[in-house]
Amino acid sequence: MRRRPGRSAGLLSAGVLLLAGGVLTGCGSGDDGSPSSSAAPEIEVSGAYMPAPSMDTMAAGFLTVTNSGGTDTLTSVTSDLSDDVTLHSTEGGAMREQTSFTVPSGGTLEFASGGDHLMFAKLTHKPEQGEKVSVELHFAKSGTVRISMPVKSATYSPKTGH
Ligand code: CU
Repeated sequence: MRRRPGRSAGLLSAGVLLLAGGVLTGCGSGDDGSPSSSAAPEIEVSGAYMPAPSMDTMAAGFLTVTNSGGTDTLTSVTSDLSDDVTLHSTEGGAMREQTSFTVPSGGTLEFASGGDHLMFAKLTHKPEQGEKVSVELHFAKSGTVRISMPVKSATYSPKTGH
């Protein structure tokens, strides 16, 4: 999303803003390449998928959130597949609902099979393999990130560690 100033006045004020921003960020942020935890988060979502559920009552979703900026928090998830999406952790084989997940500064938040996951209940329909489910991730600082979550086979597992 690039904003193009249409007038010279716009260019001028943009220049002033850049200058002011430079002065502000130069003050007190340890700029050694690693993001300080108070910096603005930079969120990226990758590897999202949903194993095709066998029933139309419940489905799980997996993805990785990468954060190259400051700390953020995933506070909720919404989807047109379900009005009841919750965040779950898995502890000792038991699922537990969580109200939020931290996305650490310069780190990742991973939802993976057998671990933390998104839980979709009361599905509006049974998602079939090949379908794409629209999912919105709501972050405390970054706001809403909309992703398209592909539905994979029931036994799909992402290949890692090549
Ligand atoms: Cu669960």
